[in-house]
Order: sequence, then structure tokens, then C-alpha cells
Amino acid sequence: MKVLIVGGGGREHAIVYKVAQSPKVEKIYCAPGNAGISELAECVPIGAMEFDRLADFAEEKKIDLTVVGMDDPLIGGIVDVFEARGLRVFGPRKNAAIIEGSKAFSKELMKKYGIPTAAYETFTDPDKALAYLETAKMPIVLKASGPALGKGVLICQNLEEAKAGVREIMVERHFGDSGNEMVIEEFLTGREVSVLSFVDGKTIRIMSSAQDHKRAKDGDQGLNTGGMGNFSPSPFYTDEVDKFCREHVYQKTVDAMAAEGRPFKGVIFFGLILTPDGPKVLEYNCRFGDPEAQVVLPRMKNDIIDVFNACIDGTLDQVKLEFIDDACVTVILASDGYPVKYEKGFPIRGLEKFKGKKGYYVFHSGTKFDADGNVVTNGGRVLGVTALGKTLQEARANAYAATEWIDFQNKYMRHDIGKSIDEA
Ligand code: AMP
Ligand code: GLY
Repeated sequence: MKVLIVGGGGREHAIVYKVAQSPKVEKIYCAPGNAGISELAECVPIGAMEFDRLADFAEEKKIDLTVVGMDDPLIGGIVDVFEARGLRVFGPRKNAAIIEGSKAFSKELMKKYGIPTAAYETFTDPDKALAYLETAKMPIVLKASGPALGKGVLICQNLEEAKAGVREIMVERHFGDSGNEMVIEEFLTGREVSVLSFVDGKTIRIMSSAQDHKRAKDGDQGLNTGGMGNFSPSPFYTDEVDKFCREHVYQKTVDAMAAEGRPFKGVIFFGLILTPDGPKVLEYNCRFGDPEAQVVLPRMKNDIIDVFNACIDGTLDQVKLEFIDDACVTVILASDGYPVKYEKGFPIRGLEKFKGKKGYYVFHSGTKFDADGNVVTNGGRVLGVTALGKTLQEARANAYAATEWIDFQNKYMRHDIGKSIDEA
């Protein structure tokens, strides 16, 4: 069969790598893809938001299955466009992708169906939000309701900061239209865990857990980023946490979406926080995480095509997901200055060292070929250096050793990815 993957980051590289392992697949296309992806797939210069051009391409090439990796096209309704043209596609429709597209929606859903989450209020009027803050407990969390690349969240320590935050989001509109509506919520403390799942509208199957490191600098300092590295499984995701979430979070979310007339098919990513009062949902995403996909998919034993098909056909109840016991760690090699300001276009050396090395992967996030055919940096997050190991400590040592194989100007990474696991 022929498969088209939509997106061009490390997550899509991990999806392409996993799809390429399926004996059912004879040809993979990726739009737009990147330099690393082009080793496994034919990259097509069509942007992820060009729905009609992508659907034209899928028709012309007789694509059997399209898999959408990225959030923006899903939130924008790419799946509806493909389905209307009779094209087979993996991912939630627009009316279900809203679970990530609107924080106001997802908070309301959790409240209505009793899914544990931080207490909150929603505002469309900045004056009402400012008045509410006067009596609220600090610290407090402000969130632009719409999508903001993981950056529309402000944690404010005191009233002054919180008032300034409301003005940034709703008046100065630092996150554009995403700030038309705002959620103000209780500040929670605890360890964060990412849980990815496959959903077919009614059945949910949980993948292995992962833990992200969102801040740019060591010791969880610096600005929030898309993710600077992660590991799987998370030792903090205990059997007890799993049991609680199966009872109070996962199936309840799937049933709530179905009851709302928004059946969800695709990947739900649960951003959990393990508070002293038990696990709570910080956020939902409607797609694989990046870099979570880079640590979870190399551990997955199933043929992913079978799982995609089961989600589309509503037969996920017949699928058992299996993962190898090995742990996996990804360290992101970024361009110095990310997530604010950074330079691009520097040649990357050492990529060939990963060839044929079992248990080591280099997933490309922001790379491209220059005019001479050299692989050069082309983004804030450049590469996801990934390694397996018998234990998390071993996987971490392997991944950090492999970061040394790669060299490019302004190479930047965190040195403490997975370090917190020593405390588990
Ligand atoms: P979100 O996009 O909602 O996951 O928020 C991004 C990050 O902000 C999360 O991964 C947390 O680190 C932090 N965060 C979000 N909501 C809260 C909260 N209610 N309490 C504490 N930290 C939060
Ligand atoms: N790594 C977090 C995300 O993909 O949203």
C-alpha cells in the first residue's frame, strides 16, 4: 500500500520510521517532510495546511492511507476535507480535534463529565478576568484558549504578574486570536506525565507513558519550548496511577466526546499532572506528542498500519498494543537561542554514524538539504537523538553518548534529560 504522512518534524520522522517497518507498505510520501525523512519517504513540497492540494495529491497517487501528524491541520479540519473526497485518513475530524483546539471546550468537557482537572473559570472580557484575579489564590495559571504552539500558558506568582498576563493575552494579544477567550485556572504541583493513546470513537488503547522536559534550560529553567527531550516509560506512571486514570480519565474522555456528538478517532495525548490529590488532566492534544512519539514508537511492537486501520474501522477492541521492555530516551539537539531567536543553515556532521547502529536513532526535526545537497539546520529543534537501553539510566547514557557523534554550529542541548528518574 501507499501511505502519505502530513508534517515535517521529529514526530513525523518517527511515524515514517514506524510505518516503513510494516510489510504492508510499499511506498511512503511525506508532505512536506525534511532531510532525514527523505531517506525513508519521498518528500513532497506541499504545506500541511494546503488541504486541497494534499487531497489532490492523494487522489493522483492513489494513496491508500493518509496519516496526519501535526495539530494545526487537524484542528483546521483536514480530515473532513479528505473524508468528503472519499480518501482514507487517520486522525480526528475538526469537531473532535477541538479537544486540543479550544482549552475552554476541553475544560468544560472535563467539568461536565467529572474528569479530574484544575479548577478554572473562562473569560471573554478582560475586565471580568481582571476583577476575578483580585480574589483569586496565587500562584495562578493563565491560558489563551486557542492553540499557541504550547506557548500560550503563563504561570503567575502574584497579582501584578497575573494582571499583566491578562493584558498580554487579551489586550495586547501576544497569541493573536487564540487570546479571544482565556482560561484562568488553579496552579497545581506534581510531576507531569504524557500518555498517548489510540482511539476508534469508542474504544481506547493506552500506549506506554513518557515524560517530557518542556523548559529550555537545565534544572527546568528558562522558557517553555515544544519539548527538549523525554523518556519512556515514566517510572512515576505507576500501576496505581494507571488504574486511577483508566477509571476516571481515559474511557470517560472517549465516552464524553461520543456523547457530545464528537466521536474521536485518532491519537489522544493526555497531559497529566500527578498532584498530592491524585492525577489530573492538564491538557488534551489531538495527535502524537513531539518528542513523545520519538521515545514511544521505537518501543512499540505492533504493525502501526494495523492499529491505524483499526482506529478508522472502529475495531480497536480487537487490538492488543505491545511494547518492548527496553527504555528509550530522546535528547533534542537545538539551535542555540531556541525558542526565541536562533540562526539556521549550518551544516550538520556525523549523521552517518547512526547507520546500522541497532537501538540508536536520529529523528530530524528542523533540517533540510542546501543547494549542494548537504544536510543543514533549519529550525529551533534540529534533531532528536534517541537511544534504547535495558534501563532508563542505560538509555540515557546511550543517548547522551550519541549526541557527541553529531556536530553543528550553535548546537545546544539540555544535559539533564531523564535525570529526575534517578529519584524514582
Ligand atoms: P498546557 O499547554 O496546558 O499543557 O500547559 C503547558 C505547561 O504549563 C504544562 O506542561 C505545565 O508545565 C504548565 N501548566 C499548565 N497548567 C498548569 C496548572 N494548572 N498548574 C501548574 N502548571 C501548569
Ligand atoms: N511535547 C509536547 C507536545 O507535543 O505537545
